Amino acid sequence: MNTIAATDSAIPVDSGVNESSQAAERIAHLRRELDEHNYRYYVLDDPVISDAEYDRLLKELHELEGQHPDLITADSPTQRVGAAPAEGFETVEHRIPMLSLANAFEADEVREFDRRIRDQLDLEIIEYCVEPKLDGVAIALRYEQAELVLAATRGDGRRGENVTSNVRTIRSIPLRLRGENLPDTLEVRGEIFMTRSGFKQLNEGLADEGLKTFVNPRNAASGSLRQLDSAITAGRPLHFFCYGAATTDGLPDRHSDILESLKAMGLPVSPETATVRGVDGLLEQYQRILDQRDGLDYDIDGVVYKVDDLDQQLEMGTVSRAPRWALAHKFPAQEEVTRLLDIEVQVGRTGALTPVARLEPVFVGGVTVTNATLHNLDEIRRKDVRPGDYVVVRRAGDVIPEVVRSIPERRPDGTVEWIMPDQCPDCGSSVEQVEGEAVSRCTGGLVCPAQRRRALEHFASRQAMDIDGLGSKLIAQLVDQDLVHSPADLYRLDRDTLAGLERMAEKSADNLLESLENSKSVTLGQLLFALGIREVGQVTANQLARHFGTLDNLAEADLDALEAVPDVGPVMAAHVRAFFDEPHNREVIEQLLAAGIHYQPEEMPSSDKLPLTGNTYVLTGALESMTRSRAKAELEALGAKVTSSVSKNTTALIAGSDPGSKLAKAEGLGIEILDENALKALLESR
Ligand code: IVH
Repeated sequence: MNTIAATDSAIPVDSGVNESSQAAERIAHLRRELDEHNYRYYVLDDPVISDAEYDRLLKELHELEGQHPDLITADSPTQRVGAAPAEGFETVEHRIPMLSLANAFEADEVREFDRRIRDQLDLEIIEYCVEPKLDGVAIALRYEQAELVLAATRGDGRRGENVTSNVRTIRSIPLRLRGENLPDTLEVRGEIFMTRSGFKQLNEGLADEGLKTFVNPRNAASGSLRQLDSAITAGRPLHFFCYGAATTDGLPDRHSDILESLKAMGLPVSPETATVRGVDGLLEQYQRILDQRDGLDYDIDGVVYKVDDLDQQLEMGTVSRAPRWALAHKFPAQEEVTRLLDIEVQVGRTGALTPVARLEPVFVGGVTVTNATLHNLDEIRRKDVRPGDYVVVRRAGDVIPEVVRSIPERRPDGTVEWIMPDQCPDCGSSVEQVEGEAVSRCTGGLVCPAQRRRALEHFASRQAMDIDGLGSKLIAQLVDQDLVHSPADLYRLDRDTLAGLERMAEKSADNLLESLENSKSVTLGQLLFALGIREVGQVTANQLARHFGTLDNLAEADLDALEAVPDVGPVMAAHVRAFFDEPHNREVIEQLLAAGIHYQPEEMPSSDKLPLTGNTYVLTGALESMTRSRAKAELEALGAKVTSSVSKNTTALIAGSDPGSKLAKAEGLGIEILDENALKALLESR
């Protein structure tokens, strides 16, 4: 079809031909460019243009193809969405079955695996390829004459589902292979997965629309891949890494070299892939990948060991559908199932009631978990958990454990929905739920011993007055025995009283008195934070301190003056005002000052712009000259933001001794790493 000649007869024919051949050239050029950028982005992880530039090229191609529909081909980057919604998925037979892997959990099982191979092959040492075990959905991709012709799920290993039109929407999967001398037929095997960040975003979006969310990234990947409408799949953050080929034609004779060839053809391979020698190499690489686990943006549940030499693989053979030349060495599970024994409520410093799950002890993510927060009633309803249920508990890295969901299929008879008590479990005061807020609160205020205990724990905490040796057990005794009502009472305690308490002696009493004495000298920000004003966290406390300079100035500030402070809105301003309007609070402050608590008045900044404004830091590892929370407070006082995880927006990672996985992540992202001396220099640059 000659669209130009047909639609515009005023244009001479040869000029139309000319224009159309120019368009064809430009289209070919754009496709080459886009394929190249895709390859750099997904396979080499080394993009040279921005996403916006990519989108502009793609748009131009779309427009040109719109004007010249006869030039559209199936492998054009514009053709990633298009197929009409399917009725269901067609079943496809795998020409080469998709095998599974034998599992190991202990190092001894790995040694046994290596020994068996050495025995059978009669070799001293074996070379292996080690890859992360991706936690996603297995996929087989068939390329014929370099073109993607079929994508099928694993199914039962012999028969899977044809999901080609959905897979075509995944940008890291090439529609056409790159390079020369490609095999006529190539069948690639790999894993489709969703990134953790993409998963989080997707779930937030689904929740906003009132739709059902996914339980974990693997379910989200699987659910997204099995959409009948490929336009939905196209909108999901799916990725792909390949981990092998099922055909051998035209490929090298070592697994690691095959992966290199596949990469050269445009297929992404996990960057954590390595070749090692012998069982020691296997176990070292296991540890290395385990250490990186929390810093990766995708879930992995172990590593896979594969004999690297294909002839050796052939000689080892396959039993009951698992090759004898490969082994999955699993990591400790991050999710486990246990019994929810009961839901109790904990009363917080401001009276907020938090439901807490009491769990049958379960070993997950490397620790034994017995409690997990359930946040609030909405959360309990959303996760559909009832006392007595079996629940999924998750603990990833050093993150606090959480109850992910219940397993309603295993729900015992006779369970009932949990309800929030209408009286505070500690003081019996009535519980109120504020309109539009998810939290319920005890109305007991300072009458409530639980609130008093929490307020004191907060006051004594490291980020606040930093009173060493005053832990929650001791505070509970002091409150229960009516020895301490307000923070100021702490400074009136004497040696005999303290030494007479349970688990205390003269030595520990002296130590505590000394830390109380030391705590008297603080920054204004610390003191404000310690007072526990509703909504006022460390950052705001420091901002208020800098803005007002003294406690008196702050106590006298009206709502307008308060709202002039960066990040202070009407709600927070009202909380601050209400705090200082409460005579009891003024009294406590008077008493604290009378007890000798003093602070250096803050220097008022000459301009709004602080030296580190706009910079974001992450702290990891132990510092020698100060605690991490002190470092955080000081950085924030200079205008910096301090966050807990490394991202591409991080200015620098400040690493003390024994840094965790954050270091690897920062290095991976090419983010500047500062040591403690550099931190000190930064803080002195004030
Ligand atoms: S190789 C011949 N390598 O694990 C062995 N599998 O039980 C076939 N998986 O569902 C698999 N990462 O999708 C292999 N690097 C990796 C893998 C991997 C994840 C999955 C695979 C399959 C299961 C094997």
